[in-house]
Amino acid sequence: MTITTSRSPAIAAKGLRKAYGDKTVLDGIDLAVPTGTVFSLLGPNGAGKTTAVKILSTLITADAGELHVGGHDLASDPQAVRSAIGVTGQFSAVDGLITGEENMLIMADLHHLSRREGRRTAAALLERFDLVEAAKKPAAAYSGGMRRRLDIAMTLVGEPRIIFLDEPTTGLDPRSRHTMWRIIRELVAGGVTVFLTTQYLEEADELADRIAVLNDGRIAAEGSAEELKRLVPGGHVRLRFTDPATYRSAAVALKEVLLPHAHGVAGAGVSAVTSDEALSLHIPSDGSQRELRSLLDWLDAAGIEADELTVHTPDLDDVFFALTGGSVAPVQATEAVR
Ligand SMILES: Nc1ncnc2c1ncn2[C@@H]1O[C@H](COP(=O)(O)OP(=O)(O)OP(=O)(O)O)[C@@H](O)[C@H]1O
Ligand SMILES: [Mg+2]
Repeated sequence: MTITTSRSPAIAAKGLRKAYGDKTVLDGIDLAVPTGTVFSLLGPNGAGKTTAVKILSTLITADAGELHVGGHDLASDPQAVRSAIGVTGQFSAVDGLITGEENMLIMADLHHLSRREGRRTAAALLERFDLVEAAKKPAAAYSGGMRRRLDIAMTLVGEPRIIFLDEPTTGLDPRSRHTMWRIIRELVAGGVTVFLTTQYLEEADELADRIAVLNDGRIAAEGSAEELKRLVPGGHVRLRFTDPATYRSAAVALKEVLLPHAHGVAGAGVSAVTSDEALSLHIPSDGSQRELRSLLDWLDAAGIEADELTVHTPDLDDVFFALTGGSVAPVQATEAVR
């Protein structure tokens, strides 16, 4: 019986390995990216994100691993993979000496579009990426953001169904970044699969269905943004005081009274935070309404009045720091939810 490829992942890697000399960059990575979803690979500088993108997009070869992209085996049929994908590298593929439009037309040629079709596609993409005015100018005169938009427009000329974007928004201003996010969302709405690397955790949070954190050659954690956030402690309520005496009595009361008897308040402990956050108390909390209510009730009953109360829920930054700070045992966030 043959297994149909429609339900198999757009990108699948099993035991992906790559070393440069005696430096192991990817030490047996497993990935599966379902069709029509956004997968984001995170990791510190040098973690191997670009290496993974280059391997999966056939630019370099892996040392080992079973790799399939668009249902094609990378080792035996790289040409079929190439025709299914588009790649926007970390560093621009734009030729600065020719105009934006000419860059687009070269891509159209590479994809064997007819002259007419090439011009039509180039014009439509230049319009979509807000590059019509700049189209006749040499790309060397483009700003970083314009160049990046042209880069991605060039990637889309062949209407690839699987797109690799290596740090697509690095160096873009917030408006351009949001434009890029909108474009990525539109692509995904049209069924395109996106493999994205980024240093902006907010970007992964915004766009990605699943996120993998690469560290020390391995996937340190994998899951949705919400699943990953649940892996790290960091949720707390912060109480700030301006009056040292109030602060001290609150600290004592919270430590001695609240925690041993608390119901619903996570009992990990209150920490008094000094330095730039002088006169602050951090109380572990999941930020739920129920916990907040019981905390507020207790503060009222104890006559403690903080000058400021803020709720901090863990974000992907917390996850990133927790997972890439040192040697961390692999964590799997996926099983419970799948
Ligand atoms: N051609 C090469 N020869 C030798 N070492 C290489 C080569 N390409 C990459 N490396 C090494 O492989 C490791 C991973 O590099 P890679 O570019 O994949 O990291 P990255 O996660 O993309 O980092 P960044 O966030 O800085 O883009 C680094 O230690 C890098 O020095
Ligand atoms: Mg890189």
